Amino acid sequence: MIKTHNEGLNTNELDLPIRQTTLSDSFGRVARKLRISLTDRCNMRCKYCMPQGNIKWFKNEDILTYDEIFRLVVILASLGIDRIRLTGGEPLLRPKLEDLVASLKRITPIKSISMTTNGLLLADKVKRLKEAGLDSVNISLDSFKPTRFKAITGTDGLEKVRDSIDAAVSVGLRVKINTVIVRGWNEDEIVDFVEFARNSGHIVRFIEFMPLDGEGIWQTNLVFSKNEMINIIIKNIGNIVPINAVTNSSDSMNMLNADPATLYCFADGKGIVGFIPSITEPFCNSCDRIRLTSDGKLLTCLFEKPGYDLRNILRAGISDHEIKKRLIANVKKKPEGIIRIIKSNKLEPSLNMMHRIGG
Ligand code: 5AD
Ligand code: SF4
Repeated sequence: MIKTHNEGLNTNELDLPIRQTTLSDSFGRVARKLRISLTDRCNMRCKYCMPQGNIKWFKNEDILTYDEIFRLVVILASLGIDRIRLTGGEPLLRPKLEDLVASLKRITPIKSISMTTNGLLLADKVKRLKEAGLDSVNISLDSFKPTRFKAITGTDGLEKVRDSIDAAVSVGLRVKINTVIVRGWNEDEIVDFVEFARNSGHIVRFIEFMPLDGEGIWQTNLVFSKNEMINIIIKNIGNIVPINAVTNSSDSMNMLNADPATLYCFADGKGIVGFIPSITEPFCNSCDRIRLTSDGKLLTCLFEKPGYDLRNILRAGISDHEIKKRLIANVKKKPEGIIRIIKSNKLEPSLNMMHRIGG
């Protein structure tokens, strides 16, 4: 019981146990998913992501260690986070990634661990990652044409990426393909990507170009919209309908688990494609994710800057209890998202840098 001389004190002063077991914000959204960017470095230089010239990298000592990440995930898991995605930059540049996967897998509330990768280094490491407990991978691929692949990513890695897709499937990982469509760059390959989805069985998710590029090249007219993509698909391949219109089973949707993409299928049942229409149909209202950058900032939204510095409080020796309180308070302040930026006509290039915040 609280003694009378403590009356008027708030929980900060009393250090009462925190009863809250979820992270909710002022718009009623609840965070369930955590994306952990493991490094801002990358072995590609995708034009829609990285600055092309001199890049100011985070210093090594500023990057969270696996132990620090583990500690934060344990705390976050007690607050309702149950799905983890490892991203970058390129997450496979971190040595012994399988050790991190194995340790996160031991945190019981965590239901799944996924990774988004450019695929260049995946084939060699995929078996160890699967054994450590990785559940699925999203592999980025924007062109099947070697010259164009090089123009977009700055590397000759198309074959390696294709090998990685096969290697991931062969060890039993669920695989999805992320394809960013930029007007004038690769919309002429939408049909090829859909055929690839139909023939391989991999879900291809088409992503609208977001103003998260490091170079400042984003412009509204480079955004190739979901509707334009769907029109191309209908004209060249056949009608597609949203999957939830043909199946009511939440189980089968969970199995596919491709959010935030809306998934579509074909009348002949062959192939599934998804769309991430971040610009033309922002999904901020149902956003259930938060992000941790490799230098230890909590970002409750892709478009938040600079984020809350968790690294400094971790390294200052603060208690789990106090960290928990700060996580709760910061998620409470989560901004409405890109939807608000669009409404106020404030879209502009480089609102944040994807390689630093992890997509
Ligand atoms: N707009 C949309 N998607 C992007 N990605 C990287 N930069 C951008 C951008 N500016 C994608 C990558 C990767 C995922 C994490 O985000 O292709 O698949
Ligand atoms: Fe690297 Fe991914 Fe950015 Fe490409 S999109 S430069 S692969 S982090």
